[in-house]
Amino acid sequence: MYARALSAAVQGIDAYSVKVEIHLENTNVPTYTTVGLPDSAVRESRERVSAAVKNSGFLFPPKKVTVNLAPASIRKEGSAFDLPIALGFLAATGQLSKDRLDSVFALGELSLDGKLRPVRGALPIAVELGKHSVDGLVIAAANAGEAAMVEGLNVYPARNLREVVSFLNGESTIDPIKVDVESLFDEGMKYPVDFYDVRGQEQAKRALEVSSAGGHNVLMIGPPGSGKTMLAKRLPTIMPPLSFEEAIETTKIYSVAGLLPSQMPLLSVRPFRNPHHTISDAGLIGGGQFPRPGEVSLAHKGVLFLDELPEFKKNVLEVLRQPVEDGEVTITRTKMSITYPANFNLVTAMNPCPCGYYGHPSRECRCSATMVQKYLGHVSGPLLDRIDIHIEVPAVEYKDLTAETGGDSSAVIRDRVMAARQIQSERFKHIESLYVNADMGSREVRKFCHINKDGNNLLKTAIDSMGLSARAYDRIIKVSRTIADLEGSSDIKPEHLAEAIQYRSLDRELWL
Ligand SMILES: Nc1ncnc2c1ncn2[C@@H]1O[C@H](COP(=O)(O)OP(=O)(O)O)[C@@H](O)[C@H]1O
Ligand SMILES: [Mg+2]
Ligand SMILES: [Zn+2]
Repeated sequence: MYARALSAAVQGIDAYSVKVEIHLENTNVPTYTTVGLPDSAVRESRERVSAAVKNSGFLFPPKKVTVNLAPASIRKEGSAFDLPIALGFLAATGQLSKDRLDSVFALGELSLDGKLRPVRGALPIAVELGKHSVDGLVIAAANAGEAAMVEGLNVYPARNLREVVSFLNGESTIDPIKVDVESLFDEGMKYPVDFYDVRGQEQAKRALEVSSAGGHNVLMIGPPGSGKTMLAKRLPTIMPPLSFEEAIETTKIYSVAGLLPSQMPLLSVRPFRNPHHTISDAGLIGGGQFPRPGEVSLAHKGVLFLDELPEFKKNVLEVLRQPVEDGEVTITRTKMSITYPANFNLVTAMNPCPCGYYGHPSRECRCSATMVQKYLGHVSGPLLDRIDIHIEVPAVEYKDLTAETGGDSSAVIRDRVMAARQIQSERFKHIESLYVNADMGSREVRKFCHINKDGNNLLKTAIDSMGLSARAYDRIIKVSRTIADLEGSSDIKPEHLAEAIQYRSLDRELWL
């Protein structure tokens, strides 16, 4: 007795189809063997499937049961195959017609009483099935919204095993779920915060505009309560709006991470993630026995905010390097390695000293000079090398906090950012995987950032007299390129360089 059901599994944020084969033999000693699943998952799956089958009013006759999940070579998680295994078993025992099992995919965990539960990764699976004109996908109702984002795929929501069986037997119908994807996308595009809320801090706001325009990573230094978190949270609001394709890509990551709220099946704003400094390296870059995306991937296409940067463990900051450099992260496990996208704008923040009040106009700092130097020294090294913009965010003056207006709204700033991005798209249109000024290597800096004599003199003075490191050189030029782009100027002028030099405050403090 043999039957086959169709299902799918996720690898990274992509999916592939899986054939679930069931073979039954008569025997005096019933057994249950699964091929293609890790041992730990097999046992649990067997218990759930047999209980769900029995408690849904079907028979689970004692047999020698062999379940094969093909391809066997790729490691899979167990629970999503409960439904296709149960369906295969029912078909092999003649309790379910095989007709539609050949063309409808099924996915879901079963509870012991036969309820169908949501699983991770429904969206990437739907995206994959959508490419291959399949008949449809049966899935838990709580997963149906995200799966229905894929045009042309019939998604059948079901509550339990009985409903699925009756549907596949042609005894009842399930209407495929219909979602107005476009209006869902539009509705979700609003941010709950705006730059207009931030009083004063004109310099910091300007620096974040430059950051967004050129894709530059940022370090903010300032005392507690000066508005660093408030500013960072608003950076996504001045980045270009997500395209639909980008929204699907970020949503896939949340789907795989199991973090997609069922009432919000499409994320159409750029994410903002601010993991606490106690986070582990696995939490930050992803990991686990069955790897899950970490914070760097949940921040993909958005902002990763690391507050209190010097408090992060050294090894945690070290693993940040690959995603910051490559825009993706690879997690290696025995027998597999998985790559997740992780292309984010990094914003970091720190106090100017351990107590927080070094240089504060009205509060006294209790730290010694050595303590301050040591504290700043925590963040030197490879990561700092990837941060183009350092800004000081001083305590806000009372008159600013009580001012009438907060300045430009996010929409106004974003328009300027998008104009500067347009210039960059044109500049880099023939260069693969180079989109924004921050991505430029030394070669592109030489090619696209011509500095005239006055500019060179200014740079030389800054490097000599302010103690700027040689490494700061390229960063200053890249940032000045962005500042010129914001102004619509094809030349990099001395004033553009002068502004960019101001964004190296930590270099100055460390090297003085
Ligand atoms: N520039 C500002 N404009 C308006 N409110 C501010 C400003 N700076 C700080 N605040 C208020 O102070 C609170 C604390 O700011 P926060 O961003 O958490 O500071 P930090 O992260 O630097 O410690 C904010 O939630 C906000 O209510
Ligand atoms: Mg804060
Ligand atoms: Zn201090």
